[in-house]
Amino acid sequence: MSRIVKPTPEGIATAVALLEAGEVVAFPTETVYGLGASALDEGAVRKVYDLKGRPLDHPLIVHLPNADHIGEWAGSVPPEVSLLTAAFWPGPLTLVLRRNESVPDFITGGQETVALRSPAHPVAQALISGVGAGVAAPSANKFGRVSPTAAAHVASEFPGELLVLDGGRSDVGLESTILDLSVPGAVPRLLRPGGAPVEAIERVLGTRIVQVVGGPGTPRAPGSLRSHYAARARTVLAPLAELLTLLEESPGAAVLAYSPPPTGYVGEWLELPADPDGYGRELYAALRLLDEGEPPLILVEAVPTGAEWLAVRDRLERASAGPA
Ligand code: TXA
Ligand code: MG
Repeated sequence: MSRIVKPTPEGIATAVALLEAGEVVAFPTETVYGLGASALDEGAVRKVYDLKGRPLDHPLIVHLPNADHIGEWAGSVPPEVSLLTAAFWPGPLTLVLRRNESVPDFITGGQETVALRSPAHPVAQALISGVGAGVAAPSANKFGRVSPTAAAHVASEFPGELLVLDGGRSDVGLESTILDLSVPGAVPRLLRPGGAPVEAIERVLGTRIVQVVGGPGTPRAPGSLRSHYAARARTVLAPLAELLTLLEESPGAAVLAYSPPPTGYVGEWLELPADPDGYGRELYAALRLLDEGEPPLILVEAVPTGAEWLAVRDRLERASAGPA
């Protein structure tokens, strides 16, 4: 069984020792839980791919204690980087930069770029600082499934022996925003909306960024596959009125909404906060909970179209895309 461990100094020291010995450890971040390995240890990184069931050519994010370590990984660092790290690090922003020659292919999936992030969660900070080198970590879920936002989610997904540091519920609840700055002179490109809002990034940069999520020419990124972050049950996204009609046709369906249920409604209706931050924080746990009831169908109320709902909308669209 996975071992959920409190993040005491001893717990963190045990996790650091495991990472340094080439083992995999799950740890909390403010976005979602990660499945970590020492980033320069090929055997350890391979274990992460094996555990996740992830194709080898899909690269991992390297987690750093702070921006001082960027030069160890990046080949060229454009001027925007210091603005962005001053504003968002530590925090939910991942930067894709050109790698330097020393960065091995097993981290980058053979691409000429490397993804870097410094997480804000104090337990992640303690762990990564303890290891010294970077910690490569994807979200701690099986490939294509919902990311974990609690230690128990990780433990239920990896029944084998795995140490899971328990840092409580992830505060952001959705993965980091991924911004590509690897093309010299080009406008930064958004590869995945996430915890750092696009408008805030644009304010810091003083320019608009390009949103190429999933578009042609996008670097390989599982998070950009259509069917991703998926519950096991078939998931359909619909505005409230349409959802209520669909519900009449499939009375066993479970509902995920930010609107309250109609008066007297008795079926499964999970109501999430009606603000994007609160909704994002609870979304993945809600999808897992609904899935446990093994409903024939999950009906999700479509969220508003505003920019502040971008990351939530992206995840809902992927969760409801069905098999790719
Ligand atoms: O919030 C997060 O980013 C979490 C926590 C654990 O830090 N991590 C996470 O990792 O979501 P993962 O592997 O589940 O998603 C990272 C995404 C993947 O879609 C990956 O392909 C993409 O980042 N990625 C990694 N390196 C890249 C690169 N060099 N160029 C483009 N995309 C890259
Ligand atoms: Mg993931």
